[in-house]
Amino acid sequence: MNRTSWLALPAALLLAGGLSAQRYITVTTEHTCLAFRVTDKQALEQIYFGGRLADAKELERAALPGSSAYTAFGGEHTFEAALRVVQGDGNTSTELRYAASRTESKGDGVVQTVISLRDAHYALEVDLCYTAYQAEDVIEQRVEVRNRQPESITLHNFASADLSFSAPAYYVTQFHGNWADEMNLREQRLTPGIKVIDSKLGVRSHQFAHPCFLLSLGQPAREDEGEVVGATLAWPGSFQLCFEVDPTNLLRVLAGANPYASSYALAAGESFQTPALLYSYSREGAGAISRRFHRWARRYGLKNGSGERYVLLNNWEATYFDFDEEKLTKIIDDAAKMGFELFLLDDGWFGNKHPRNSDSAGLGDWQTNAKKLPRGLPYLISECKKRGLKFGIWVEPEMVNPQSELYEQHPDWIITQPHRELSLSRNQLLLDLSNPAVQEFVYKAIDNILAGNPGIDYVKWDCNRYVTNGGSQHLPPEKQSHLWVDNARAVLGVMEKVSAKYPQVCFMACSGGGGRLDYGSLKFFSEYWISDNGDPLQRIFTQWGGGYFFPAVGMASHVSASPAHISGRSTPLKFRFDVAMSAKLGMDLQPAQLSAADYAFSKNAIATYKEIRPVVLYGDLYRLLSPYEGNRTALMYVSEDRLSAVLFSFLVRKEVYGNRQALLLKGLQPDKRYRLKEINRESGGWSRFAEYEGKSFSGEYLMTVGLRFAMYNEYESVVVQLQREE
Ligand code: DGJ
Repeated sequence: MNRTSWLALPAALLLAGGLSAQRYITVTTEHTCLAFRVTDKQALEQIYFGGRLADAKELERAALPGSSAYTAFGGEHTFEAALRVVQGDGNTSTELRYAASRTESKGDGVVQTVISLRDAHYALEVDLCYTAYQAEDVIEQRVEVRNRQPESITLHNFASADLSFSAPAYYVTQFHGNWADEMNLREQRLTPGIKVIDSKLGVRSHQFAHPCFLLSLGQPAREDEGEVVGATLAWPGSFQLCFEVDPTNLLRVLAGANPYASSYALAAGESFQTPALLYSYSREGAGAISRRFHRWARRYGLKNGSGERYVLLNNWEATYFDFDEEKLTKIIDDAAKMGFELFLLDDGWFGNKHPRNSDSAGLGDWQTNAKKLPRGLPYLISECKKRGLKFGIWVEPEMVNPQSELYEQHPDWIITQPHRELSLSRNQLLLDLSNPAVQEFVYKAIDNILAGNPGIDYVKWDCNRYVTNGGSQHLPPEKQSHLWVDNARAVLGVMEKVSAKYPQVCFMACSGGGGRLDYGSLKFFSEYWISDNGDPLQRIFTQWGGGYFFPAVGMASHVSASPAHISGRSTPLKFRFDVAMSAKLGMDLQPAQLSAADYAFSKNAIATYKEIRPVVLYGDLYRLLSPYEGNRTALMYVSEDRLSAVLFSFLVRKEVYGNRQALLLKGLQPDKRYRLKEINRESGGWSRFAEYEGKSFSGEYLMTVGLRFAMYNEYESVVVQLQREE
């Protein structure tokens, strides 16, 4: 029997196991397999997660002792529980038994398996749902819990996945940071006991920690070899990743919405859906994990993931709140002449009674400010269209300034605790989206802007604070702990509704930078703003970290002023462009403030970017030299058909004697020849790359001998285009 039919016929999975008949279930992708066994006592165990075998039936010999596929609190389990339920009669235990499983093809390379479990006594149903993306080797897991008891039950833990591993050692890489310093990597060997990475922020939940991780089995994660699992939770709310190494050195990983202060009651007949955990297993190191997630994201994970992207000019750092129609029209005119494709109007365009002239007023009042923009958005849109530019607009629809008409009318719509002082951050409060009236308001706010101003092509959806003082004025006292889950679900609900109504509009997920970056939200967004920090040195690190799970096609990266507004660092314009061109290029500068030479360079760079854009945005990412390991860092993109590639190399600190580190390229066809050309050079400037310029080499040479050209100066960069010769 071939593997596919073995997978597709769960009814035929009763294998004579020698001692007793046992049932095996597998979830497979092209290269990986997650396997389960149903024990004699009808418990479901995970017996394997790794590379796919030619003969899956051999897996009946595999065993990860005691590794429940979804650990419920109670019985003999003594470790952290994936599921903890207080039953209708107060019993605090759950005993899950296998009930059924089914596997069906969803078409387009997607196969879904649902394994149904039931409590041995109580009318409690738990479905483990796996969606396996065959070609991308990504598995998406979510869980549904249904209460069929006549009484209400309470969920205290509700993980999306519970994965077991057995290896001599475990290394976890986490992604952490803060505003303007996002997505730093840190790897650590797990010790016995529990390591938790979590967020309790509710909204803008990823400001300090991201719900993604790499788990390397046996040794620290390597780029191109070794067993690595990558996972990311598709959830904009609070989350928890829990790694528990037990006394037998078995590792269990629980991931899901954070159960902290979030117990959730389910009335009779109600069900609870966890967010999805997306994960992938690789035997070829972390690089393969990233490329799989990127391909998956372009195909399934991002709105319009493989569609067009536009080089945009954003007026935020160019003007902040200080603009009017005349100033903007001039910027629009300059933008069109420089080759930009879209103008994005940022914060400050709305509010009349409380004009939005700073971050202290107007948030919530989504009417165009008549003083700054007397002819309204339609005028700016038409000025853009006249010049062949698309038009984008900024919103922050989940928030309100106390100084706003919205707050004057609806003080009961904000998240706060009774009898406590209002807790402000950036002078603003959060709207309570657990309230359906607020959901409708937020939806309508965006809908009115888009429907009332035809021609808007792009929306930057911002979100500049997290939850403190977390109470709902809408939820009843006994459901206050639902706020964390309900608010995140409601945000996703509104995003979905808006995105569905405006399928052609490109939405950018922004949360003061990377404070909201997850595949739950990104389904409705085509781009994400990874950091407010426009300092290219910082961006090298942030983009490096973000690129582990999130693709360049969505990673908006802008050229900003020098010295950078946040860090004060001065860097050459070419360096700023080269860093931004290694993702999705944009600019946050007023063209009029550029010198003639810088203007000419920028215009040229934009034109060059348009040429390499398909490779950068839709190609495979290969990381060559990590910025964490030396002064020189390099990465490259290779088109899926291997016909073209672009190489980026940066020197982040001066090297008096030169850095001659070899760049061993990756992802090329060894038996084909590639011609090299340095691009984005300064006019009349010398080239570090002269000895290679215009020459062609075999892919084999480039990947085994590599390129060796010295770089000396701090913030020096070289970009090379590779074209395959037939
Ligand atoms: C935070 C964003 O990240 C910035 O790009 C800008 O849009 C400001 N908010 C506007 O308030």
